[in-house]
Amino acid sequence: MAQFSALEKLGITFLAAILFTILINVLKFVYTYVVGPTMNKVDFKSKGKWALITGSTDGIGKEYAKELAARGCDIILVSRSMDKLKTTAEEIEKDFKVSTKIIQANFSDGEDIYDKIGREIADLEIGTLVNNVGVSYIYPEYFLDIPDWKQTLENMLKTNCVSVTRMTGLILPGMLKREKGVIINVGSGSSMIPSPLLTVYAATKAYVDKFTEGIEMEYNKKGIIVQCVMPGFVCSNMSGIRRSSFFAPTAKAFVKSAISLVGTTSRTTGYLPHALFLNAINTIHALTGRFGVWLVTRSMENSRRKALKKYKKQ
Ligand SMILES: NC(=O)c1ccc[n+]([C@@H]2O[C@H](COP(=O)([O-])OP(=O)(O)OC[C@H]3O[C@@H](n4cnc5c(N)ncnc54)[C@H](OP(=O)(O)O)[C@@H]3O)[C@@H](O)[C@H]2O)c1
Repeated sequence: MAQFSALEKLGITFLAAILFTILINVLKFVYTYVVGPTMNKVDFKSKGKWALITGSTDGIGKEYAKELAARGCDIILVSRSMDKLKTTAEEIEKDFKVSTKIIQANFSDGEDIYDKIGREIADLEIGTLVNNVGVSYIYPEYFLDIPDWKQTLENMLKTNCVSVTRMTGLILPGMLKREKGVIINVGSGSSMIPSPLLTVYAATKAYVDKFTEGIEMEYNKKGIIVQCVMPGFVCSNMSGIRRSSFFAPTAKAFVKSAISLVGTTSRTTGYLPHALFLNAINTIHALTGRFGVWLVTRSMENSRRKALKKYKKQ
């Protein structure tokens, strides 16, 4: 039998620990993205006739609406622009043969909108709520230099944090009565990694993450499935990304993946390449400390410079 020195034994133990950690992570990924979605398929229609999606006339929200309609749910669309609401509702009714209801609401407005939404949905059995609406900066910027500072930040807090809280408050009681329901809250990967120059946006999404965690703990045992989805880049108006790539999928591809994870995981990026990307950034950050922050800051400053140049030209 080979004899190992104390140092060699330490090295072998260290290596075994690393290999064990890698193995556990690979198994977690395989369970989350391959085994879980086939084992834990959620029948959204059985949770309640209607699904309500906020910010549902574009991007990720519109794709959630279509995906839930494809699974047989009637759809309530809530957004600001009446034209887009009508067009999206017509498209969904025609393509998926389900009923739709539209509610015009601006989540950066005050209290009144929740009274209005409450009245509109009072008699509807809502089985799925997707708190998707969210706004970010128009370009990455230092906290004190955000354009139209007070208004921008107030809108962001109301749209990203208050909406999730108040919509959950409106719809959860009905779900609890029926002892079933699904709540999906759309956060952002920016709250999981260093996010300089997106400070307030990332902080609002950290709220969504923490809020979801608590709601999941409180109501999971009462039959409510709760999930926080924290995407990386997705092609949309908000991201400004038009062409899809491995790390920036179309909203359709993203939602197809994310919705398949409902019932398997309550906290997810929703999309395997995003999980890999965010893990890589956090590993660099953990290993190199300030260097990781410097890298992210430099990349955000580049985006800021480009955006400012574009805005100056316009
Ligand atoms: N795209 C990404 O790369 C990315 C990454 C991470 C997280 N996210 C999150 O994903 C969610 C959706 O983002 P997205 O990229 O799909 O956005 P998007 O393409 O800009 O779509 C936003 C939707 O929300 C509606 N909306 C915007 N402001 C509103 C307000 N104040 N009141 C009511 N409705 C409003 C818009 O319609 P109207 O203009 O008609 O109101 C539209 O339907 C957000 O929470 C965002 O933070 C996105």
